[in-house]
Amino acid sequence: MPKIIAICNKKGGVGKTITSVNLAVALVKQDKKVLVVDLDAQSNSTGILKSDRTLIEKYITDLFETTRLGGEYPEKSKFICTSDDGVDFIGSNTLLGNTEIGLASEMYRETMLKRILAPIGNFYDYIILDCQPSIGIITINALAAADEIIIPVQANDFFCLDGLANLMKYIKITQTHINPSLHIAGTLITKYLAHTNISKLVCRTVYENQSIPVFKTKISLSTKVAETAAVKESIFSYSPKSKAVLEYRFSKGGYGALSMKKLQMRMGNNTPLDINQEYEKTQNNENDELAQMFTPSSIEVQAKIKLLLMRVILKIFLTPLTFR
Ligand SMILES: Nc1ncnc2c1ncn2[C@@H]1O[C@H](COP(=O)(O)OP(=O)(O)OP(=O)(O)O)[C@@H](O)[C@H]1O
Ligand SMILES: [Mg+2]
Repeated sequence: MPKIIAICNKKGGVGKTITSVNLAVALVKQDKKVLVVDLDAQSNSTGILKSDRTLIEKYITDLFETTRLGGEYPEKSKFICTSDDGVDFIGSNTLLGNTEIGLASEMYRETMLKRILAPIGNFYDYIILDCQPSIGIITINALAAADEIIIPVQANDFFCLDGLANLMKYIKITQTHINPSLHIAGTLITKYLAHTNISKLVCRTVYENQSIPVFKTKISLSTKVAETAAVKESIFSYSPKSKAVLEYRFSKGGYGALSMKKLQMRMGNNTPLDINQEYEKTQNNENDELAQMFTPSSIEVQAKIKLLLMRVILKIFLTPLTFR
């Protein structure tokens, strides 16, 4: 079964596409089989992964249409292309806007992507969904199909944080009604410039929101990364020695190891904490305290001590009275 990761934030320009493409290439470099699905009518990841669009026969739009009409899917080779970096992808085009409107009146419209991915999922270790900057039916389809979400937040724009609460609301609704196994892998800070106040301010605000985990890895603001959008290449092929290559590898163990073990949260004081360890620690402490408080033996002991104390107090007060 593949791990399906939605790269999602309703704010535009935060690095969803750049993250989708470069995370995919990083995983391919670790010998994983990866499929990127472009779920944005702007089709930016399609552009980077395949600059010559005339070579693409079928788009995600066509697959939504087939699912809607209940028809047969075309041959895989017609809608899955492979980039020069070895990433498989399903492209998108401007017609995805029409799909969004067309799906509005369909039954089971939220789970169409899940049905599209079901027959092809087993060929991959990871499927990465590059979402559009809005919460429409296509993005809900991504949340319904995904196992986890990465939320890129750009460190040079404070407005970027405004939509987070709203996004969380949709994630919760999706978890409750459509996809209970969906979870947030973490917030990924992008376009980070260490010495700027705005980066520090955005990071501090994100760290202080303890309900959402934050990846320890931050993606720095880099002209090389910005240029990849123009040259239509991943950072791995365009500038293999740049810092962003290391950052998108998410440490030595790669994303898989990171999402399992090294997902970290930093609090306001910048102390790195392992979320799982901390969670387990607090759970254990709470459980121990509760267990100690409510074991029958401890209740009996407490009652006996109280009785003994009352007897001692009574004796102290009553003894002088009896001698008067
Ligand atoms: N780390 C970075 N350093 C510099 N520029 C970056 C970085 N990450 C992304 N960019 C640039 O920021 C712009 C927006 O990035 P990207 O397209 O990945 O965002 P997005 O969230 O997918 O946008 P949209 O919401 O429109 O789909 C692009 O021009 C990209 O080259
Ligand atoms: Mg994008």
